[in-house]
Formats: sequence, structure tokens, C-alpha cells
Amino acid sequence: MLNIALFGPPGAGKGTQSERLVKEYNLFYISTGDLLRKELAEGTPLGEQAREIIASGGLVSDEIIVQIIEKTIAENTQAAGFLFDGFPRTTIQAYILEGLMIKLNTSLTCLIDLHVPEAVSIERLVKRGKSSGRSDDNAAVIRNRLKEYREKTLPVLQFYKDKGVRHKVDATRSIDDVHGDVLEIIRNEQNKRLFNIVVFGYPGSGRGTQGKALADRFGLEYVATGPMLEQEIKAGTEIGARIEALYASGELVPDEIVVPLIEKRLQNASNVRGFIFKGFPRTLVQSYILEGLLRKHDASISKVVEIEVPMLELIRRLDERSQTNRCMPYDSSTAKIVKRLHEHEQKTVPVIAKYSQLHEVSKVDGMAPFDVVFQRIVDLIQQGDR
Ligand code: AP5
Ligand code: MG
Repeated sequence: MLNIALFGPPGAGKGTQSERLVKEYNLFYISTGDLLRKELAEGTPLGEQAREIIASGGLVSDEIIVQIIEKTIAENTQAAGFLFDGFPRTTIQAYILEGLMIKLNTSLTCLIDLHVPEAVSIERLVKRGKSSGRSDDNAAVIRNRLKEYREKTLPVLQFYKDKGVRHKVDATRSIDDVHGDVLEIIRNEQNKRLFNIVVFGYPGSGRGTQGKALADRFGLEYVATGPMLEQEIKAGTEIGARIEALYASGELVPDEIVVPLIEKRLQNASNVRGFIFKGFPRTLVQSYILEGLLRKHDASISKVVEIEVPMLELIRRLDERSQTNRCMPYDSSTAKIVKRLHEHEQKTVPVIAKYSQLHEVSKVDGMAPFDVVFQRIVDLIQQGDR
């Protein structure tokens, strides 16, 4: 999720900048000021409680704010992200926001501090007051709003400076210039986030060889369940013995074994740009698990690739491999090979279908020498925006 808070005194341009950002990033917009004015217009009990405070330029109580904000977030958990305008405005609200983000398994990506001197605020708002119809856009109230900002809202900045997510922008310049700076901040933040690729393909399609090479090329961690399971067998662990028996029968290794291994890999990875997953997710259940695991790291799937190879060619390749010293325990007989191909068709093809609806699945023709297929995938990954 991309979650942004626009911070700044009255008249800094929070609402003005929000309008464009919401469209460009498809974010759900939450302005506590707008929400309060709506309650006011509808004459709700909440609105009535806030009416006088707003008219005098004071801050509405955190108690009221938490109610309106929690309701709005809870109704829109499917959003690609949230854009907060005029929230958080007190240190208490900063803690509230933190709690709400944790509930959604996410966090605030950045807080953008639109900086303008008080004289500019007053000038802009007095001008706006001529047409806005807002009860609080007059000189006396504006001064009180600024005082509240200085005393209660400015200290909130320290909270975000400590977290390293506060970015300051000189907001006295033109709307376009300010917007340019804001976009740059967001792009930089996005580049810091993990880039994750899932590589699909039938057994024998070359997904393993390609996955490893792609990981090297893009500086990503290669996460393949196969080698992780083999590691357990080699280490002679209890789990390893269970895996060996399952391999012998050609069955899938159950999620209770695979999932903790993947989770550990994600946890232990530090300083990585992202991951390449191969052989996982293999089932619909695993696809939900992967989403959850990535969410914990505030990440998601960035690209899905499927390597396509005709069935007869797959059988030919797997049979050929079974007669060499690269033979895997799970392709030592024709019956096992057929079973694996069948498992993929039954359990993994529906996962690819699901991804086709959620993300774009880039299909690659795998009927060519390794280097050619590799270049095809590289081109697909580099294509378009991340
Ligand atoms: P709220 O509605 O949030 O108002 P505000 O913070 O006082 O800010 P404004 O909406 O007036 O300014 P803005 O920064 O959005 O600037 P805008 O883009 O409009 O809050 C209202 C009240 O609700 C509060 O006083 C409080 O009582 C209560 N409240 C709200 N949230 C609360 C919370 N979390 N906790 C407690 N109480 C809360 O721009 C202003 C003008 O400048 C416009 O005319 C615009 O066209 C112009 N402008 C913008 N950018 C530029 C530029 N770069 N150059 C020239 N002109 C520009
Ligand atoms: Mg506003």
C-alpha cells in the first residue's frame, strides 16, 4: 500500500495537492476537515459537537476525530492506499494513525510537510474566503487556526522525523512546482520498496534455471522451495525425512512444512531489493499465504511471469534429464513425471488464472535456447513501470 500524509498549516495547499495525487496514484482520499464539514452539513451529533470549535478555529477533540477516521478506513480496506489531508494533527492522532495502519498490515509511507510562512497562509486564505463559504476563512479565525497549528500540530513533526519518513517541501512556489517535488518524493519512496517477481511454468519449462539467472541479473533473492526442501533432506532433519517420503510418492509437500521455511527466508533477508519466487505459490492456498507474508513486509507482488512450453517438449526434457546425473528424485520414473505435470495442471494453473485477474501475467515463449528465453523475460520485466 502507498499511504501518504500531507502536513502543513492552513492554506499550505494540502487540499490543492491532494486533488492531483488522488487521481495519479488511485488513492483513497481522507480529509478530516472535509469529513467534519460533511457531518456539520448533515447536522449529525458529531457535527453539532464540532460546529463551534471549527468556527472558532480550534482543533476538534481526538475523540471525535478517531471515530470519523476509523469508520472511513474500515469501509475502504481494499484501497490501493490512503492519502491523508490534515491528519494527524496532534501527537495522539499520530499514534492513532500508527495503530490503524498496523491493523491493515501496512504503515505510513511518507509524511510530506508543505512549508509556508504564516503571512502566506493568511494571504491565501483571506483570498479564498471571498468565495469558499467556509465559516473559518476570515482573518480573526485564521489567526487562531495558525496558533493551534503552532502549538499542537507542529510538534507532531518530531514523531515522523524520528521515524525518518518526513519530507519537507517549500510550498510557497507555484502549484506545479510543489507538485513536482511531491511526485519526486513519492517515486523515491516507491523505489525503496521491495520488487518481487513470481516465475511460473510447468516442470521442465526452465523456470528454475531462468529464476536463478534472473535473480543474479536484477540483484534479487532467489526463493525456490525445491532447493530449500533438499537442504532439509541433506541436513538429515526430521522434516527432511518426511520430505523424502513425499518425494518418493510424487506428492506435494504440505504447507505446514513449506510455509515456515519461506517465512524464515523473508525474515532473514536484510538489505535486499526484492525476491524471485519459483515453485511457490503452487496452490491457491499458498497464493493467499504469500500475499500475507509479503504484506508483513509492507510489500506485494510486482511482476508475474509464465514460461510456456508445449507438453510433449516438457516430457521430452524431463525424460532426458532423468537419464543424466541431474536427475531429481521426483523425476526418476515416467509415472512420477506425469504425476507432477498433472499436479501443476490441477493446482497451479488456477493460481495463474487468479493472478491474470489481479496482476498482469507476462507470458514468455519458452521454446528457444536458454539465452534467448532469458532475454525475453528480461525485456518483459524491464518493460513499463514498476
Ligand atoms: P481543514 O479543512 O483541514 O483546514 P486547514 O488545515 O485549516 O487547511 P485548509 O483546508 O484551509 O488549507 P489547505 O492546506 O488544504 O490549503 P488549500 O489547498 O485549500 O480543517 C478545518 C478545521 O477542521 C480545523 O480548523 C479543525 O477545527 C478541524 N479539523 C480538521 N482536521 C482535524 C484533525 N485531524 N484534528 C482536529 N481537528 C481537525 O489552499 C488554500 C488556498 O491557497 C486555495 O485558495 C488555493 O487555491 C491556494 N493555493 C494552494 N496552493 C497554492 C500555491 N502553491 N500558490 C498559490 N496559491 C495556492
Ligand atoms: Mg484543505
